[in-house]
This record gives sequence, structure tokens and C-alpha cells, in this order.
Amino acid sequence: MQKGEGLTRRDFLAAGAAMATLAISAEKTLADDEEGTGPVVISTWPHGVAANEAAGKILSEGGSALDAVEKGVNVCELDPAVSSVGLGGYPNEAGVVQLDASIMDGETRACGAVAALERVATPVSVARRVMEKTRHVLLVGAGALEFARAEGFEERELLTEESRRAWEAWKASREKKEGDPHDTIGMVAIDSRGRMAGACTTSGLPWKMPGRVGDSPIVGAGLYVDGKAGGAAATGVGEEVIRVAGSFLVVERMRAGDHPQAAVEAALARIVENSGTRHQVAFVALDRAGRIGAASIKPGFTYAVWRGGKVELLVGKVI
Ligand code: GLY
Repeated sequence: MQKGEGLTRRDFLAAGAAMATLAISAEKTLADDEEGTGPVVISTWPHGVAANEAAGKILSEGGSALDAVEKGVNVCELDPAVSSVGLGGYPNEAGVVQLDASIMDGETRACGAVAALERVATPVSVARRVMEKTRHVLLVGAGALEFARAEGFEERELLTEESRRAWEAWKASREKKEGDPHDTIGMVAIDSRGRMAGACTTSGLPWKMPGRVGDSPIVGAGLYVDGKAGGAAATGVGEEVIRVAGSFLVVERMRAGDHPQAAVEAALARIVENSGTRHQVAFVALDRAGRIGAASIKPGFTYAVWRGGKVELLVGKVI
């Protein structure tokens, strides 16, 4: 199934029971700005709904933005129905699931990331350990797995029967080429004390070359958070995001005074300058005042916002 070009049946299933209580409006593209009204969580795609609910629960109980984003995206990583993140994520062209993830604390600018990590379903939690327990920012491949093992993470086969069947169908047809759209989860949150954090996690482009690393574990590309300005996360074709240092660009625009919506649109315009509109890329952003922004290059992007105990699934503006 082609991902990222709209709300697929699988997307809706992945959003689970929470969807039943959601207001989804094709008309509504931006949640009302409620500056200064307490904790907020924003994340990408319908699978952001369940992730935001988990993150929002932590924030409602007075927890930190850092805990909220990690535990929030863990929900998505552990959901085998989500074919673009964690367990059940689509594999590379060799049939191996290689995961990328990053996490960033907006208070300290501390960050951690892992890339091409195999056999651990929660790469964002490994990324957090990299941030908190090493003097490094990014561990890749065998070194990342070795570190995860030393930290006691459980190893398991990440290829599910469904993702194996999808890979076999791709191998038989070779229909999907590089550049296919992709549904990373990126999340940014602000907690009741005004602290900000973000997380980003993905299995990367389906059928990618073994060892390919996308934007999600590249701090400044797939994710960037500075509590003095705001945070941003990206989804879509990671190569395009890396080329413009996308999330850093969004945050710097907010620091310079842009509303988050103007900031994400400016970053997407920079991608269009490079590559036109042939690739799907989207950003979500949250500034330190609690205002949000979200937009994409192509139609079909949706994002979830948790605020005041409620989650809404909204349609991203197409630039
Ligand atoms: N944005 C996810 C990836 O390109 O891997």
C-alpha cells in the first residue's frame, strides 16, 4: 500500500479506538492557538493520536516533556499495525528492519540518536540512553545494537508476517522506487513548567538500501528543539529534509519571530526550491508560547494535537 499520500485504511486502524472520539475535519487545518494555556503535544499522522494520548497523560500528571515524548512515540514503535515505525516497520531491500530515532531536550539542547539499529523495537529509548549515558550523540548499526544490549534492551524479530508479505510483494514487482513517501512519527511537547522536548522515530523509507540513514536520527534535520524558541519535527523523504537542515531551519525561523505556521511553510518552500514538488515532506512545529504549525508539500498530511486533555486530528496545509 502506498504510504503517505493520504489516510490509508491501515493508518486509521493504527490510530485505534481513540479515533472514535476524535473530531476530524477536512476543513480545519490548524488548531486554535491558545497561547499560555498549559501543556501541548503535536505529532505527525493518525498514529500520532494514540501517541499523543500517552504523552498527554504524562503531562496531565505533571510529568516532563522529555518523558512524554519518549513514552508517547514508544506507543507507535510497539504497534505492529504501524508499518513505518518500530515493530512491523517495513524493511530495507534485503528484508531487514533498520530503525532510526532521535530525542532532544529543549532545556539543555542535549540530544541522542541511533541509526540503522536492528532488533530493538524502541529505538527512541535507546537514543535517550545515548543522550543520558554516553558522551556521544549518534550511534549506528552494530555499535548501536551493542550499546542497546549493554543497556538491557530486549532483542526481537521486528519483521512481522504482514511486513514480510509487503516486502515479498515489492520484491516480486519492484514497483516502489526510492523517494516513496513515508510516515515517520515526529513529536514535540511542552509541559506544565514550560519545558520543551521532541522525539522522532521511523523504520525509514521502505525498501531502502541497507545502511541508508534518513533525516529522523539527524539532529537538526528530522528533529530540533530549543526551549528558548520552539521545536520542529519532519516526516517524508528524509534526503530532502537533510538537504535543508529542515527542523533546525523551522526553529531558527521561530527564534527570529515567525509564527510556527510561517516557519514550517518557509522550510517547505526551501525544499521546493531544491526539488520542486515531486517529494512529500511535512513538518510540525510548536513554539514556546504553545502555538502550532503544520504543513506539507503534497496533500494528505495529517497531524495530531493534544491540548487540555483532548486530541484532535487535523489536516496539514498544503503549501
Ligand atoms: N523521514 C523518514 C526517512 O526518510 O527515513
